[in-house]
Amino acid sequence: MSAVDDIKDRIDISEIISESVKLKKSGKNYTGFCPFHANTRTPAFVVFPETNTWRCFGACNEGGDVFGFLMKKEGWDFPETLSYLAERTGVELKPLSAAQKENEEINAHLRDLLEAAVTYFRHNLLSSQQGKSVLDYLHQRDIADETLEAFEIGYAKSAWEGTRSYLIERGFSEKNMLDAGIVSSREDGGTFDRFRHRIIIPIRDSRGRMCGFGARVVDKQDEPKFLNSPQSIIFDKGRLLYGLDKARKTIRSSNQSVIVEGYMDVIALHQAGFRNAISPMGTALTEHQLRMLKKYSRNIVMALDGDVAGDRATMRGLNVARDALDRQPDPVFNARGLLRHEGRLDADIRIVSLPSGKDPDEVVGLDPEHWKTLIGAAKPIVNYVFDVMAENRDLDDAKVKAEIASQILPLIGDVGNSVEREAYRQQLARRLRVDERALMNWRPKSWKRDSPAEQTRPIENINLHSQKPLQRFCLALLMQNPELLYRIDRQFQALQMERLGARDFSGTEHQIIFATLQKSLAQDKEEPKEYWTKTLDSALLDAAETMSADLNQLAEFVGLELEQPKVADEITARFLQLRKRSLEEDLSKLQFILRSAEEGDGPMDSRSEVDLEGYKTQIQQHAVQKAKLEQALAHRQGSLPNALSAQFR
Ligand code: UTP
Ligand code: MN
Repeated sequence: MSAVDDIKDRIDISEIISESVKLKKSGKNYTGFCPFHANTRTPAFVVFPETNTWRCFGACNEGGDVFGFLMKKEGWDFPETLSYLAERTGVELKPLSAAQKENEEINAHLRDLLEAAVTYFRHNLLSSQQGKSVLDYLHQRDIADETLEAFEIGYAKSAWEGTRSYLIERGFSEKNMLDAGIVSSREDGGTFDRFRHRIIIPIRDSRGRMCGFGARVVDKQDEPKFLNSPQSIIFDKGRLLYGLDKARKTIRSSNQSVIVEGYMDVIALHQAGFRNAISPMGTALTEHQLRMLKKYSRNIVMALDGDVAGDRATMRGLNVARDALDRQPDPVFNARGLLRHEGRLDADIRIVSLPSGKDPDEVVGLDPEHWKTLIGAAKPIVNYVFDVMAENRDLDDAKVKAEIASQILPLIGDVGNSVEREAYRQQLARRLRVDERALMNWRPKSWKRDSPAEQTRPIENINLHSQKPLQRFCLALLMQNPELLYRIDRQFQALQMERLGARDFSGTEHQIIFATLQKSLAQDKEEPKEYWTKTLDSALLDAAETMSADLNQLAEFVGLELEQPKVADEITARFLQLRKRSLEEDLSKLQFILRSAEEGDGPMDSRSEVDLEGYKTQIQQHAVQKAKLEQALAHRQGSLPNALSAQFR
């Protein structure tokens, strides 16, 4: 989810607007005096909480979302509005690009420092007295010298000032060392080596740049077993995956990545020829990490250590209230969190749990073929959880059935793809041997919803609704193929309608992205993509790129397979559908204002500004256009199933 979406999810538009406009409840909506022009006595300004939008039906005849409102009200540009709303809602934004540049220079220096440390640790392992027994230990674990070299494994001596002195000799300052996380502060102001008497595992990012270290104890009794570099800009655990620099190519060529829990597992697997293995750094997987992996392949397997704790972790995530989930990821494995990532990223995530008490290092050490078999048998998340829950349970017992259903159904509800979701439901019914219809209508009591209105809406539509998949699909398609706009516009012209415009999109960010796309076509200095990449502010670029990356998933949401024959016609139909939606939204707003005007609702003692006839004319024009669109769409009958229109409500 982009920061913009996150903010919209958290913000209450009527709350923001009511800070500067006196609002009065009117049915589901709020009315007031438009703050953008001199008002007489008629409240022609309306806030629509359902769509998170506002609209002035009076003199200015403008409208939009919360971003548009603040931009207009405060005279801010998009980035300013974004940073204001981000701060207000507690949504984190990426640092600005100017600051980023300066940071990059500092970071480059810190990476140089870390490179020097790698050399030092390597030297300790290979040529020091203390290092010899550590090397023996590694050999005894069947790690070959070539592997130690490829992974640059080293050793930090049992000393307080070994690394520190080495780096000072090479001209690095204490501040640099602290920033790079290679030393710790002493109370008297000095510094000392952070890593002492440990096996050193250098951690690089996907591009091979040094970021930090993982350090494993040599002596069993030392604590903690693994000590990592401290969190910093260059060592951000949520954004790194151990081994990705080496695994990248294989992940792409084998079209699969395998996530394991430990560094030593990654090393052993690569040595055994399974070079698509990577691991997190002892923390829960983040969407960022999965997104990184998905760049190379959409097929992701998670291999969980075969201990009881692993399965407990599986179950723990299931009982947490829906709302808490996105904010408190469970360590190691959270089924619902993962399912949502899977849906959002259009990835295929599968789970395998290893034989009891074993980790990948041990499995592959005993028999590489066994590893292959295990990975081949990885299960989709829902099936995995079902199997863990059903193990050693009596599935004939009605109570057991109900318990399992109550845990699995919410999971199924989180599956992004509707066909898949249906298949899981059928499968669950079969496996529990209950009537599928009983599962269809089933709602767990504990599901909390934000507003009563949402309670009645079918669960599966909520996501689609708030994310506006049709708008996103159309934008994503245009971003990848800007010239398409000409064809779409010809189509609208043939129907004697306005060209596609920013007004067809409802979010301010969508409108700006669209307008930038239009401009990219109007200029001829650069490729359109180059143009909009340069022009869009970083937050918008992020939103745009996310959409573009999600194109396939969005296509699925709008019922399209981009590979199918005659897809061009289908695509045009989606743009007509888009126009139809925006007309419909406008229509319902116009009808609302007309109704309240006719009823004389609110403090409308004068009707000077409320132009009843004008509204009626507009409504009529909208209705005519809508009918035209419906006709045009009906010509494609069969290609646009009726169910679709329901989906976009
Ligand atoms: P394991 O304890 O399973 O380690 O922790 P391992 O990789 O199998 O190591 P060996 O085989 O005992 O040498 C798995 C991962 O959990 C994180 C580390 O990332 C480790 O690789 N971890 C573990 C920590 O961050 N801190 C700890 O204290 C322990
Ligand atoms: Mn291990």
